[in-house]
Amino acid sequence: MNYRSLAFLACSSLLFSCGNEAPPAAESSTETVIEAEENTPVPSSESEEINGSEDAAPGDTLFVEIEANDQMKYSTDRIDAYIGQVVSLTLKNVGEMPKEAMGHNWTLLRKGADFQDYASKAMLAKEDDFLPADLMGEVVAHTALLGPGETETITFEVPEEAGPYKFLCTFPGHFGTMQGLFFVRQ
Ligand code: CO
Repeated sequence: MNYRSLAFLACSSLLFSCGNEAPPAAESSTETVIEAEENTPVPSSESEEINGSEDAAPGDTLFVEIEANDQMKYSTDRIDAYIGQVVSLTLKNVGEMPKEAMGHNWTLLRKGADFQDYASKAMLAKEDDFLPADLMGEVVAHTALLGPGETETITFEVPEEAGPYKFLCTFPGHFGTMQGLFFVRQ
């Protein structure tokens, strides 16, 4: 089914006039969001709480649970944290494909790291499970590369510099869809 017929179905099922000006990008991003929510095992309000929220107090341990799947997606693309917090982050590979074809890790880069440059070099470092030893200075924290059904919990301190940090899966070809924002507040 092509996009045009999807859009037509959406219009007719809502008995609502969409108009020609509706941008295709908006439709497709809506679909992505719905799909992501369906893959999330907990209600989104609960999920936000687990993954940090406006109410989180500095000094607490921040518990984060992230699933990674065979569709090359994380269950969350944003984590909010405070300086002074300790993060207990659990990554669960809920996929079924073999690790060699669909391995996942969670890797947090230092603030200001060159995301594209790091991701491009990491995917070549097969001997290091795609976490190149000579670039560990770019990494704040990371899990191991997990195969299907594997889970790992890591603990680390929130970096002491406020602002945006990025996380990604460094398995070859994954960083395009497996990345997100780790936002640190004072
Ligand atoms: Co991955």
